[in-house]
Amino acid sequence: MADSQRHPFLHGLSKHRGAPPTVVVIFGASGDLTARKLIPAVYNLGVDNLLPTDFHLVGYGRKPIPDDEFRVLAAGAIKEFSRRELDDDVWGHISGNTTYVAGGYDDESAFARLAEHITAIEKQVGRDVQVLFYISTPPSVFAPILRNLGAAGLAAKHLGKAYHAKVIIEKPFGHDLESARDLNGTISSVFQEHQVYRIDHYLGKETVQDLLVQRFSNAIFEPLWNRNFIDSVQITVAEEVGVGTRGGYYEQSGCLRDMIQNHTMQLLALTAMEPPVSLDAESIRDEKVKLLKAIQPLNLEYGGDVARAQYSAGMLGGEAVKGYLEEEGIEPESGTETYAALRLSINNWRWQGVPFYLRSGKRMSHRVSEIAINFKHPPGTLFAESERFNLAGNTLAFQIQPDEGLSLILNAKVPGLETRTQPVKMNFRYATTFGSNTPEAYERLVLDAMIGDGTLFIRGDEAETSWKLCTPLLESWAAAGREEMGSYDAGSWGPKNSDALLAKNNHLWRQP
Ligand SMILES: NC(=O)c1ccc[n+]([C@@H]2O[C@H](COP(=O)([O-])OP(=O)(O)OC[C@H]3O[C@@H](n4cnc5c(N)ncnc54)[C@H](OP(=O)(O)O)[C@@H]3O)[C@@H](O)[C@H]2O)c1
Repeated sequence: MADSQRHPFLHGLSKHRGAPPTVVVIFGASGDLTARKLIPAVYNLGVDNLLPTDFHLVGYGRKPIPDDEFRVLAAGAIKEFSRRELDDDVWGHISGNTTYVAGGYDDESAFARLAEHITAIEKQVGRDVQVLFYISTPPSVFAPILRNLGAAGLAAKHLGKAYHAKVIIEKPFGHDLESARDLNGTISSVFQEHQVYRIDHYLGKETVQDLLVQRFSNAIFEPLWNRNFIDSVQITVAEEVGVGTRGGYYEQSGCLRDMIQNHTMQLLALTAMEPPVSLDAESIRDEKVKLLKAIQPLNLEYGGDVARAQYSAGMLGGEAVKGYLEEEGIEPESGTETYAALRLSINNWRWQGVPFYLRSGKRMSHRVSEIAINFKHPPGTLFAESERFNLAGNTLAFQIQPDEGLSLILNAKVPGLETRTQPVKMNFRYATTFGSNTPEAYERLVLDAMIGDGTLFIRGDEAETSWKLCTPLLESWAAAGREEMGSYDAGSWGPKNSDALLAKNNHLWRQP
């Protein structure tokens, strides 16, 4: 591709971020995530010239799939899900080095065959290659895969050299503190922490990365980013979809596990952490862990710091939709929350007294993920309350999806011969400024893992710290069954019990 046709984000990138010769092995290669995200991510890295010359893709799964058939499936996935059309030249290059190994996840002999397959690729390439294992299976088989990577000598492959083995682990990372600790234990029995990349794909999104740039490169924000000027922070991850056909899975998970413990806590950590000493992965992750540790234990009582609810039937996009309890695979007396909200206090110098509100829900009014920073009001002496002065608090909102961007609400004079005011919104949208074909989160994350940059991945202690905060709440809700379970109409902005969390501080949820 001619340089002039390349996306502006990518100029100069390949010079600085070239990956070494790599074999990517995907466990669970016949699965949904592989087709929708991973194969298209690899393909788009190929389009952008970001794959190494010696790049091989190996699918692994229980179902026997001939190499040719796997290539056809992969091409089909690109046609259906890639942000860019299938280019025969680019795909021809990748597909010529694409193979499939069939085997069980707990079958040691199959992993020995996988090891031989990788050695054969190295012989073909004529040099050492790094192997990046991508575990994209249901979590029940994360541990057997990890153990077998250890047993087959694959986890330690080329350890101590430049091109050592690495592993990406999909979410969910455990289902409570104990299981996260167990999983970390299994990982550390075979891999060293610097080889491990725990995914939270939110961290690969442009706006999440932009948060660091906005916070730490703009002089107008840096002095204001503390309890002296910020009144409260709201983090919202709202989905329009219900549980669909995944009711059985969702009954075991619920909103707190599915969204709050991982995505919203990550957004919170990046929003509130102290400036890292540098942009390297460990400096940033150290600050995130420090921040997570400063969050105070939640008051779990009814009317305390938490609220949960299930959606009831309602209207969404002009269509009538079912309530949670009527969905397929849901227990009639289900105690699983489809909405959760928390009020968090961070007990450190910067944030003492500033409430951080987190909420997430299914079947909400519309799909949006955002971080809203609400600033304090200036003294009201000049524009005292009157009908002429329509004033809003200043809010800086990072919109993470959809329409990635940033907006700032300011008060402005309405044109005219007397002074009237009105809130106005300044908007920056990635699609408008930079074009709409931005790389997907998985492209950035696969590339980062290939080149060994762990900044946008979760460290083991981070995952545990977040579970430590959420696990007492999970246990309390599990013990309470349906007690104090709120309800909200599908298509609304959530339940009343969640409004009450904010009312204590005279705050209201935003309707983004
Ligand atoms: N799909 C998404 O959008 C998404 C988003 C975020 C995170 N994730 C995470 O990514 C991982 C993969 O998701 P996915 O949607 O691709 O999963 P999936 O389609 O259910 O499973 C992936 C593959 O794993 C194997 N597998 C399925 N069930 C298994 C079982 N009970 N025991 C052993 N192997 C099994 C199957 O391959 P074989 O039968 O060929 O072995 C299947 O094709 C999960 O951890 C998920 O939580 C997915």
